[in-house]
Amino acid sequence: MIKAKRGTKDIFKDEIYSWQWIEDAAKETFQNAGFAEIKTPIFEATELFNRGVGDSTDIINKEMYTFCAPKSDESITLRPENTASVVRAYIEHNMQRMSPPSKFWYFGPMFRYERPQAGRQRQFYQAGVEMFGVKEPLADAEVILCAVDFLDKLGLSNLEVELNSLGCNECKSEYRNSIKEAIRPYLDEMCDDCKVRFEKNPLRILDCKNDECKKVLEKINDVIYKDYICDNCKEHYEKLKSYLDDLNIKYIENKLLVRGLDYYTRTVFEIKSTSLGSQSAVCGGGRYDNLVETLGGMPTPAVGFAMGVERLCALIEKKQAPMLDYYIVSTKPNEAIKLAQKLRKEGKKVEFDLANKKFTKQLEKASKTANCALILDEEEIQGNFYSVKDLKTSEQYRIDNFKELL
Ligand code: HAM
Repeated sequence: MIKAKRGTKDIFKDEIYSWQWIEDAAKETFQNAGFAEIKTPIFEATELFNRGVGDSTDIINKEMYTFCAPKSDESITLRPENTASVVRAYIEHNMQRMSPPSKFWYFGPMFRYERPQAGRQRQFYQAGVEMFGVKEPLADAEVILCAVDFLDKLGLSNLEVELNSLGCNECKSEYRNSIKEAIRPYLDEMCDDCKVRFEKNPLRILDCKNDECKKVLEKINDVIYKDYICDNCKEHYEKLKSYLDDLNIKYIENKLLVRGLDYYTRTVFEIKSTSLGSQSAVCGGGRYDNLVETLGGMPTPAVGFAMGVERLCALIEKKQAPMLDYYIVSTKPNEAIKLAQKLRKEGKKVEFDLANKKFTKQLEKASKTANCALILDEEEIQGNFYSVKDLKTSEQYRIDNFKELL
């Protein structure tokens, strides 16, 4: 018996309707705000992610599905995220020539070799947006507004926006050094992962969930909470916060929010649910002003986010299969299929019996799946009319003309 691999799942039956509803809401929200859809390949050259996401991150070091393309020694990776791919497409198709901003949205599967648990899978879907070409904080506000509008459309409450500014590369590097120096005396007390992070990516220590590490962080609070970003970065952050205030978007400032990907500069944000347990982040994003250049393009500011679709699915009110307009009830399958064809051509949702079921069984099926039963049996065929039974009111009436069914 071959089963789906751990950390992957089949999405079908009732769940697929919630899923489709989320995808439709993403399309509507993002397109209404002027983002155009982009579909990038599911696999890319491994180097794209090594350079893009950063070689000190968990994603690069532990989580990538990397393999050799058949009949070559080219290294290929299933995308662990989509920002690097969208940036690659932006550069490859010379979109830098277009007048800014360039705005994209996407919806698709990502792959990370993580330990599966509730809300964490090895193949998961993201819905996200990326915006290129605007360095002003208005773009950060627009992107956060888009995320919040989308979550609103899904009817989600109990969500918290967390916000931080990492500063530009210079601020980040100064902060990194001072965090490192502050932690150095306590290094023995920290978990093994943080000992590695200390060398490779000390800022990641700030969001370690290990209790011992948290205790050390408390001891260096004055360094963590010191005001380290430069005046320009500060102005950017203050303006962003004032836009969010104007939009009435509530946020919590979290100095420990550093995000797990290396490309961020200045704004970082996450949106968390209070009802999701340990994997509480439904959305993560921020500004990445150096990534286009790092991947070989012209210096181009950019900002975006991605949301985990499985996590959204767990939060929304469950959706049902849409009701059919008609279930054709007939013991004459050749007539039923022809009528279904005519009605579907006119845009009606129609099904009929394919399994030679008895009339009463067909009516039962109709009452579960359709708004109306459309009866087309011997009597109707002889008399050239249709009988329609409204399944909500149980009222039955005769229709003489096909057009009246539309
Ligand atoms: P990320 O924080 O790695 O950011 O992922 C974004 C969201 O994807 C998370 O908040 C979570 O909801 C979902 N997610 C991540 N990993 C898993 C998993 N293993 N199972 C289920 N859901 C998961 C990024 O990927 C960035 N590319 C976001 C971004 C776009 N930043 C700028 N633009």
